[in-house]
Amino acid sequence: MIDWDSAYSKATTALAKLSQSDKIGIVTGVGWQNGNCVGNTKAAGSIGYPSLCLQDGPLGVRYIQGATAFAAGVHAASTWDIDLIRERGSFMGAEAKTLGIHVLLGPVAGPLGKIPTGGRNWEGFSPDPYLTGIAMKETIEGMQEAGVQACAKHFLANEQEKNRETMSSNVPDRALHELYLWPFYDAVKANVASVMCSYNKFNGTWACESDSLMNKLLKEELGFRGYVLSDWNAQHTTVGSANGGMDMTMPGTNFDKQNVLWGPALQSAVQNRQVQQSRLDDMVKRILAAWYLTGQDQGYPSATFNSWRIENRNIGGNHKDNVRAMARDGIVLLKNKDGALPLNKPKSIAVIGSDAIVDPKGANNCVDRGCNGGTLAMGWGSGSVEFPYLIAPLDAIRTQAQKDGTTITTSTNDNAQQGANAARNADIAIVCINSDSGEGYITVEGNAGDRNNLDPWHNGNDLVKAVAAVNKKTIVVIHSVGPLILEPYIDDPNVIAVVWAGLPGQESGNGLADILYGVASPSGKLPYTIAKKASDYGTQVVNGDDSTWDLFVDYRRFDQQNIEPRFEFGFGLSYTNFTYADLTVSGTPTAGPATGPTQPGGPADLWDVVATVTAKITNSGGVAGAKVPQLYIGYPASAPGLPPKQLRGFSKLKLEAGASGTAKFELKRRDLSYWDTGKRAWVLPSGEFTVSVGASSRDLRLKGSLKV
Ligand code: NOJ
Repeated sequence: MIDWDSAYSKATTALAKLSQSDKIGIVTGVGWQNGNCVGNTKAAGSIGYPSLCLQDGPLGVRYIQGATAFAAGVHAASTWDIDLIRERGSFMGAEAKTLGIHVLLGPVAGPLGKIPTGGRNWEGFSPDPYLTGIAMKETIEGMQEAGVQACAKHFLANEQEKNRETMSSNVPDRALHELYLWPFYDAVKANVASVMCSYNKFNGTWACESDSLMNKLLKEELGFRGYVLSDWNAQHTTVGSANGGMDMTMPGTNFDKQNVLWGPALQSAVQNRQVQQSRLDDMVKRILAAWYLTGQDQGYPSATFNSWRIENRNIGGNHKDNVRAMARDGIVLLKNKDGALPLNKPKSIAVIGSDAIVDPKGANNCVDRGCNGGTLAMGWGSGSVEFPYLIAPLDAIRTQAQKDGTTITTSTNDNAQQGANAARNADIAIVCINSDSGEGYITVEGNAGDRNNLDPWHNGNDLVKAVAAVNKKTIVVIHSVGPLILEPYIDDPNVIAVVWAGLPGQESGNGLADILYGVASPSGKLPYTIAKKASDYGTQVVNGDDSTWDLFVDYRRFDQQNIEPRFEFGFGLSYTNFTYADLTVSGTPTAGPATGPTQPGGPADLWDVVATVTAKITNSGGVAGAKVPQLYIGYPASAPGLPPKQLRGFSKLKLEAGASGTAKFELKRRDLSYWDTGKRAWVLPSGEFTVSVGASSRDLRLKGSLKV
């Protein structure tokens, strides 16, 4: 990769060789289903610029049979493993490049996850902006180093599926900056090539024509040098979108293949000066610069697949290793009574639930995974891919059972009576349940994208209760797009273990078996809070416009309101024990606003390391394991209205039994700042910060402070 300045100088040279119609062709999609990819633009022969291929999505390449079905974003986040997240990005990028895709449409930081039932939360990472920000950075860098342009989406505040194309998200400035914009700072800092503006309105104006979103925030404040492309059909006017800061329209027509808002219409708007020529040139330069930045001018393959008839290309290679590692290390062990897990060659196991097997009609039975007939390993919509294969829980448990001489009985539907019958005489009963969601253009079992509630599908609670009523060693395995209410059975003494298996991708069963049988100690941590009741989250899908935004999302709210969660943000059990000692806090940050010239990612000193925290972690248990020490910061009283604590660091330490390691957290200026709406700046307040390191947001083992 070259840097933006060099990319811009190449783009400026190239621009001079382009005709006006070349320029229009570069910024306008060729129309819905009019090219190989879900989005395509025109080539410009004079500069060797190709027809750009834009393809979904955030967990792999859509509409190809044989590409890898990676773990979903939310599951990647639950590994808290920067190396795996980066590798996932680079593998997705490599697959995209092989297919000639220039822009892979991910990763996702919006929705952030304000609303626990929001249909597309699983495409993104976590309602915590810090965790999402790190995952955005690693994913984008991984993808772009592999040669593909990343697209950070959806910009901004598109937190629900209901009415997404009509509603306005009216977000006050602080919540905007400290939650929703935060991970886009990381994306821009990571030199993301493109950003997708969202369907919704922002403070009353369409996101894809919002001067304040695209020009003021993204391009001026965050210093974004790439281009903004519209979500599909999210453009509403010719002139407003151009002047608001949009740089490319997708797919170029509406879904009826009519109504071209740019193309000739943009050309006329430039002719009659409603849009300045310099604005059109700026659009083109941004698009070309991103293409040069990622080195796509040097022998990049061209797209030979066709999205509209799913073809077979075996391009996964060893990428399944990353999926398996994530499937395993993203699993969060929630309950493990008296060391029930790992299993040790039980005589018999009953495996129960439709979630234990692959949909009998096939893992790819419904278009864009828009049905729920078997085990859940991704949600539905444009963020889904074709499974090349899918290992279900029962597949992997059977394989191990054969080695162990364990007898297996099954009931692979969700009928409570049949489940109980299968479980009655087994040593161990494993009940698999799930909860699905997706994009609103498909309704599945009455869920129009967003989830109707936080209960498992197909009466999963009744299934668990029926099995636990007859089997004293019931293990619950849950595949879910987001939090569920576990109260109906969590304290049932017959439920000896609860395994939160997330949305693991094609290697689902193998990763699960690694944990069930102790091949690895569980090391995943919740990337969101699991509440005791849905209303504890304080947010829900709204009708009409949404003006209910504040700083208190997920654990920030539970802390502020003193609500006891069932399982707190950052929680996850292990097969071993860890002790924490020797907290050190050093650094002498100066109070005041961030300053310096704006670079990609904002004012230069926003990213300066201003303090360092270390802690010694020892694996004091009997087996090797990985631990995720987490750093939480509490702000001094001089910084008004902040949540009691916020995640500002984490690291994953892999330690042999008896071994120790040092967790080191580097606090950047931004990590200690809040958004001052009066000054319109990130301000580092003076006073005493609390510094806590622990195993979760409510298991803080070491406490110190930092005076500014
Ligand atoms: C609409 C979705 O919101 C977006 O995420 C996706 O990339 C496009 N459709 C293209 O499929």
